[in-house]
Amino acid sequence: MKHIIIPVALGLAISAQAADISLTVDPYAGTDTISRMVYGQFAEHLGACVYEGIWVGEDSPIPNTKGYRNDALKALRELKVPVLRWPGGCFADDYHWRDGIGDPAKRPTLINNNWGGTQEDNSFGTHEFFNLCEMLGIEPYLSVNIGSGAVQEAAQWIEYVTAPNGPMAAERAANGRREPWKLKYVGIGNESWGCGGNMRPEYYSDVYRRYSTYMRNQPGNTLYRIASGASDYDYNWTAVLMDRVGAGRMDGLSLHYYTAEGWNNKGTATGFDDDKYYSTLGKALEIDTVIRRHIAIMDEKDPKAHVGLMVDEWGTWYDEEPGTTPGHLFQQNTMRDAMVAALTLDIFHRYSERVRMANIAQIANVLQAMWLTKGEKFLLTPTYHVFRMYLPHQDAVNIPLDIKAPVFKAANGRPVVEFDATASRAADGSVSISLVNPMLKESDKVAIELPGIKGLDIERAEILTASAPQAINTFEKPDAVAPAPFKDVKAKGSHLDAKLPPLSIVTITLRPRK
Ligand code: AHR
Repeated sequence: MKHIIIPVALGLAISAQAADISLTVDPYAGTDTISRMVYGQFAEHLGACVYEGIWVGEDSPIPNTKGYRNDALKALRELKVPVLRWPGGCFADDYHWRDGIGDPAKRPTLINNNWGGTQEDNSFGTHEFFNLCEMLGIEPYLSVNIGSGAVQEAAQWIEYVTAPNGPMAAERAANGRREPWKLKYVGIGNESWGCGGNMRPEYYSDVYRRYSTYMRNQPGNTLYRIASGASDYDYNWTAVLMDRVGAGRMDGLSLHYYTAEGWNNKGTATGFDDDKYYSTLGKALEIDTVIRRHIAIMDEKDPKAHVGLMVDEWGTWYDEEPGTTPGHLFQQNTMRDAMVAALTLDIFHRYSERVRMANIAQIANVLQAMWLTKGEKFLLTPTYHVFRMYLPHQDAVNIPLDIKAPVFKAANGRPVVEFDATASRAADGSVSISLVNPMLKESDKVAIELPGIKGLDIERAEILTASAPQAINTFEKPDAVAPAPFKDVKAKGSHLDAKLPPLSIVTITLRPRK
């Protein structure tokens, strides 16, 4: 493979040059399925994520179905969201579920102490969450309060949601829902090392054991219990939990990873230079090392890989937009965010044996969102488009790739790949290949060989690109960054030639002919 590295000098106009990349995609290789659960989402009671972003209430002038805004419902459907984590985040360990059931007019007001001290009316509670998931075929993922709550409260919540009979089921029925809902994923605490109680891993392990004892399976419903896991590089947390809780008592162990470096100066979502762009990608790509090291610890204690690594919070985190409510974590979403999404999803695919779920933070109006709203106004972000373009990879078999792209160091010292790719084979035999060119000036000429086939038919090819990484969608121009048909790809026999412009993400779905 020949690769030209363009010297970047201040003030120089750099003409687009092409790097040559060759890739072999064996359409019949691979054994690990990319769980669709790594395309999960996260909705916390934080800023305008739940209230306004999803829920407006039935009396709202914003078009809605049973209180859920219609544009959000459409986006959730189009993304085939597999799993939705709720109600937090830090909020979860402050949330008392009984405040969010029964007649909405009688529900108490709460002060959201984690996020800006905003008042909430509790109109979105257990019924509203589970009904939403049920309506859209989304797996609910409930994060249970073990920080400021009680064991009985947690145990009764599980019973209220899943028990077919008994006092909790009767209360649920009196509130309008006779049949239990289905609930598989339960998180026992959130960031228990921080906002969820500032616990040490040894202490949390015992708290976990105690709570999980009383969060019982009900007839017809088996829980998948997820322990509150490490942040970033806290490998000790993982080691202690694997020892003291162990594979027999937990099904999943979470991991949180954000791109922010230095919490007091995270940088702005849109006002960044090339150095900062590459540094953000470098930090995002470092999740590869972090995942690998947590998995190595898990492998030692749990060689049969019973416990899944659940990256149940990840994404970009910048300074809040000027003029927005402090504590609401509202940030714009650029083509840089789209790049972070694509490169991170590629990494999750590679660890599909152990990484069984991931939830980008968060679905609407908060951090790396799928959509932004302002009253009735609504737009889909560049990150949304990546999730939509990557849909063919959900539940498909990961095809291992040997990518030999050059790597350079960003200004923050972190390695950045100049090209990336992921490929998978769906149950219907089609093969999808996603190609990522993160470089700002350089295009890629990609030669792909698919051994063992006579020919292929391209079924769909799409590209997401922009003239600058700062490109955004606005309410005035909601489709400024949007996928377009990708024309620069040609098939010949078992071979594909594609030309990727700078700053581009492409997905090609093809059908091999034997
Ligand atoms: O996603 C925002 C916050 O980030 C979550 O509430 C918390 O778990 C994490 O620190």
